[in-house]
Parts: sequence; structure tokens; C-alpha cells
Amino acid sequence: RTQLRGDQVIVVSNREPYLHEHGEGDTVIVRRPASGLVTAVEPVMRACSGTWIAHGSGGADREVVDRHDRVPLPPGRSDYRLRRVWLTPKEEQGYYYGFANEGMWPLCHVAHVRPVFRESDWEAYRAVNQRFADAVVAEARSDDPVVLVQDYHFALLPAMIRRRLPRATILTFWHIPWPNPESFGICPWREEILQGLLGSTILGFHTRFHGKNFIESVDRYLEARIEHEHSVVSYRGEETFVEAYPISIAWPTPEEEAAKPSPAECRRELGERLGIPSDHRIAVGVDRFDYTKGILERLHAVERLLEKYPQWQGRFTFVQVAAPTRAVLEEYRAFRARIEAVAARINERFGAPGKEVVRLLPQHHEPDDVDRLYRAADVCLVTSLHDGMNLVCKEFVASRDDERGVLVLSRFAGAARELPEALIVNPYHVEEVADAIHRALVMPVAEQRERMANLRSSVREDNVYRWAGRMLTDAARWRLRERVSERV
Ligand code: G6P
Repeated sequence: RTQLRGDQVIVVSNREPYLHEHGEGDTVIVRRPASGLVTAVEPVMRACSGTWIAHGSGGADREVVDRHDRVPLPPGRSDYRLRRVWLTPKEEQGYYYGFANEGMWPLCHVAHVRPVFRESDWEAYRAVNQRFADAVVAEARSDDPVVLVQDYHFALLPAMIRRRLPRATILTFWHIPWPNPESFGICPWREEILQGLLGSTILGFHTRFHGKNFIESVDRYLEARIEHEHSVVSYRGEETFVEAYPISIAWPTPEEEAAKPSPAECRRELGERLGIPSDHRIAVGVDRFDYTKGILERLHAVERLLEKYPQWQGRFTFVQVAAPTRAVLEEYRAFRARIEAVAARINERFGAPGKEVVRLLPQHHEPDDVDRLYRAADVCLVTSLHDGMNLVCKEFVASRDDERGVLVLSRFAGAARELPEALIVNPYHVEEVADAIHRALVMPVAEQRERMANLRSSVREDNVYRWAGRMLTDAARWRLRERVSERV
């Protein structure tokens, strides 16, 4: 960041970092949305005051939101400005629900849900990307701001900004996987999407593998020059550096750690709240209610655990937080109904009223509530079918300052490459996941500590500031290079 001192930083994302809603009387309720992107980017923005441009949404109340242009932050922290772009219901339907979430999301995640491509969604997507480009230009105080473009909602934005602010440094981060060229190639607008992203100075993915898939897609569908050795794509006279930047979380400060209730208190409180007997072992899952997260496969594994290892019957509870998400879409509603039905079936088979084995909590939870849940758990299950990174596993590790608890982690989450001390599983293999849960439940304390200590030191070190720091350092380097070549 030092090398960019004095330069203006503008972040663009679809999701806003806070939702402001009317409470009782004159009060305003501020909530944190369930989004890996917000979890990661928010602490970075707090550290480098700038402007965050986001889609004003999520049930947010426009009148209340307009009064909160400045995000209320804890005292002593630096501030950033939040500018919302308000979309019409038609724009939101086409751009967000339609192209981004029925097209791009299933296109990029291999979760066997077919993407839907509608011409009208694509038009809305393009028009909304243009509106965000206008907002960036309106916010820019110079002709060369540093713009951080976030995620699959904005594949066209980098090139649109580049056209209007040719000297801008544009860092685009793709928070979800990038598929192989064959899978990507079914998108009717594949060339436009690649051209849009190649407006970036730097294009970041969580893993090298996703970056490689992107470069291979460019190679297949555009006439571009690729320097494989340096991961640089040259297209129509512009260069884009493609790099892996594994995203992470902000590690808790000693003060934050000291303020937390002990794991034993968290366990007691959770047990009282949900009526879980004190001799039960607890596994938790924390996700948005999304078909990519492997919640169904996880339930099947819990069921198999109880069949195969009957010693856990009457001694085991699985708590699943499932934050409602994108519920306008039929695919999401059907998924939720399916999960509820399977959970009910398992409960009928292995539980009794008030003694359910599966506790489904389909509500929004604030970060502190989730942290207490992590601390109360014996096992955390992250079984995504496909995930760019997944931050739940890193949050779980960060919450366990007692070095206890076992992480079961999908090999198809980007995080699996960084966290080999977890029990790594194939989420599609029910037997394997059931065995891993059993192994986690019987794991000796010494082994838990050893694994957790290693996991903690990786996440502590490779935290979100390192993620942002590496990207911004690379940006500063490229900026310098460009300025030097301008002078020549
Ligand atoms: C993923 C995406 C984010 C998105 C989040 C929540 O993590 O990468 O861009 O914000 O899901 O989804 P939502 O549609 O509610 O913003």
C-alpha cells in the first residue's frame, strides 16, 4: 500500500458491505451480509480509506441507506465512503438474478446445475456494468485511480473503465472458480466476457489452476498473445497480468480474542438454546443456502455416519446454519425445499421431537453468532462441490484459539490447497465423508492440537492483508512500469 500512497482507491462490488434497514421507531438496523467477498474486502477497505461502490439492495431500505453514505465504523478506525448504484427491479432481475446468478454462477462452478443464458439478461448485465463504469468515472478524482473490481457480476466493467480512464490501474479479482475452456465455451458471449476482463491491469484468481483455465480460454477463443512464462496476456495493445492471490480473512487481534466467551461457555449456551444434551458431540456447517455448498451430500454423510457407526446415535448433533440467499430463483427455492425434506427424514429416522439430529437454522447470523457456533463445535464440515476459496474453513480455524476441533474440508474448495492438515474429502463420496466425520469425532486431543496449530499458523500468516498487500504491490509495480514507458 505504501507504494500507492496518495493514489485514490475505488472498490466496485455488487454486494454492499452493510445492509441498513428501518428498525423500530427511528432506529436503524445494520447487518453484515453473508458473503465471502464482503468478509475479505471489508477489513481491507477499513485499512485504506477510499470509496466503495456497490449495488444498493438486499432488502436495504433506500431512504435509510441514503442517509448512511458513510459507513458507521467502530471508533478509532479509518473511514471509507460507500456509494450505492440503485437499480430498477428490471435491471436487478436481468443483471443480478439472471445473467450473474443463473448464467455465470453455474457456468463457473461445476455443480451440475445448468446455466441459463437469456439475451435480455445479457443486455441488462451489459447495461448495468455500464452504469457502474459511469459511477467509477464520477467518483474518480484523477485520470488514474486504482480501481479494484470484484467478481463475476462485472466481467465487462474493466474494459469499460479502461475506455474512459485509459491510465487507471484496474485490479480485477474473480472470487469464484474459472472453468476449463470447453465448459466456459458454452457461454454465447464468451468472447465479450474475455475481452471485458482483459481491460484489467491485473486479473486475480484464488488458485493458479483457475488462472490457467482463464488463460487457456483466452487462447482458445481470442486472437491474443500469451506469455505463459510470465502469465501475461497481450490483447489489442494492452497487457493483463494473470496471477493467483489466495484470499483470506482478517486474523483476530489479541483484544478481540480476549473478549470472546470461552469455548465451554459457547458450548453450554448453544446446548441450552437448541436443547442439545451436554454429552452430545456437535458438528457444524455454515453456508449460504446455495447448491454449490454440498449441503445435501453433507446430510447424506451424516445419515451414513449414524448407520455405519451406531455408537453416535443419540450422541451426535449436526447444526447447519443456512443463510437465505437469492431466494427469488426457483433453483434456490427448490434446493432449500429438498434440504428441508432430507433433514426431516433423517430426523424422523434417528431423532425424536425436540431431539433432532439435524438442526437446520435457515436464518441470517451475524459474525459474532457464527464465531460462537464455531467455538462450540467438535467438527466443522465444509463440503462444497466447488468453491473458489471458501472462507468458512478459515474463520473456523481462526476462532479456535483453544487449538481444538477438527476441520473436514472438500478437496474442491480452493482452500484445500492451503490447509492440508484438515481432513480432506471428496464431498460426492458419502462413505468417505461419513468416515471422516467419525475419524474427527474420535481424534485424540493431541492430534487435534497438532493439526489445528498448523492450520492456525497458515491462516494467521496468509491473512487478508497479505492478499490485498500482494495485489497492491503488484499493481504499484505495473503502474510504475507504465509511467516509465509513457515517458519514453
Ligand atoms: C459469493 C460471491 C460473492 C457474493 C456472495 C453472496 O461469495 O463470490 O460475490 O457476494 O457469494 O452472494 P450474494 O448473491 O448474496 O451477494
